[in-house]
Amino acid sequence: MSLKFEILPASSPTPEQERAARLADPGFGRIFTDHMAVVRYDKAKGWHGARVEARANFALDPATAVLHYAQEIFEGLKAYQRDDGGVNLFRPDANAARFQNSAERMAMAPLPEPVFIDAVEQLVRTDRAWIPGGDGSLYLRPFMIANEVFLGVKPSAEYIFAVIASPVGSYFKGGPAPVSIWVSENYTRAAIGGTGAVKCGGNYAASLRAQAEAIEHGCDQVVFLDAVERRYIEELGGMNVFFVFEDGSLVTPPLGTILPGITRDSIIALARDAGTPVREEPYSIEQWRADATSGRLKEAFACGTAAVISPIGKVCAASGDFLISGGAAGPVAMGLRKQLIDIQYGRAADPHDWIRKVF
Ligand code: PLP
Ligand code: COI
Repeated sequence: MSLKFEILPASSPTPEQERAARLADPGFGRIFTDHMAVVRYDKAKGWHGARVEARANFALDPATAVLHYAQEIFEGLKAYQRDDGGVNLFRPDANAARFQNSAERMAMAPLPEPVFIDAVEQLVRTDRAWIPGGDGSLYLRPFMIANEVFLGVKPSAEYIFAVIASPVGSYFKGGPAPVSIWVSENYTRAAIGGTGAVKCGGNYAASLRAQAEAIEHGCDQVVFLDAVERRYIEELGGMNVFFVFEDGSLVTPPLGTILPGITRDSIIALARDAGTPVREEPYSIEQWRADATSGRLKEAFACGTAAVISPIGKVCAASGDFLISGGAAGPVAMGLRKQLIDIQYGRAADPHDWIRKVF
């Protein structure tokens, strides 16, 4: 199924000079482009009203379902400016598929994948002037909210799907400098049968107390342990994690209760292309500490769309802190980061057909 998007340009777009000033140092997620894509759903009409229009507030009745029961899902992907002036999207089909999966888990109306991709593309076309040059990118945030006005607890009969766009630099202030992470021993993120494997806003709301604890301990990010044995590393608040061993092999926690990251999947593919063994298997916090101390573990890194690949330099826990490779960025993380970024910006061959050219 596809829909024709009506393009309604903003009547007072941001003046060019002001846009250039905002693009000079975008940071992450605080500045936004002039437009948004919106598609609505109700039971009678199905998906309808597809348009790109001026970015504006939504009028929501105070009894709108999402405000009470958090029936909400989202995605995150980026558009990259190529050296030849064209624009790449990275694996938007994978985001569209994951969005469908999230919708299904949250009992929401599944958005047809072609509509998801078209909404993203149409917004990128309309707001093309907002894509930062250099190593910046345009972060795209598709999301869907339940907007039936009803206080009964049941799946909403109406939804709004929208895409907004934010020019971004690095997610972490230090760019690719090693980050420190706090092991959450008081809070878990996801249990078997829960929503850990989908991208719903509630997962992030539930992670904020643990993330605040990380900040209180001087760390950048929280890392969660499994909810059953409270030992196995799951993932960070907003990133997956990899471990690099002295024999060159990689380990990453298995899918199940973690978000199936598109960056994670891409790293596994790139590593395997290069003949590097990758194991998706449980890895405990005790083993991590022992391997970092003995030197068997050479590197650890976090990965995600926003963070790309960020080396982990230090792990902090109530039971004591430890460093990974002396706290420095390692060659495997930095090598994979460059390889991935080069594909995303169209500077390297794309053997897996991950790039979708918008221009
Ligand atoms: N895990 C969580 C909890 C996330 O929020 C993200 C970010 O989207 C990831 C992992 C990485 O996923 P992806 O590589 O698809 O961005
Ligand atoms: C992303 O990487 O796209 C995310 O959604 C993570 C979030 C912490 C910004």
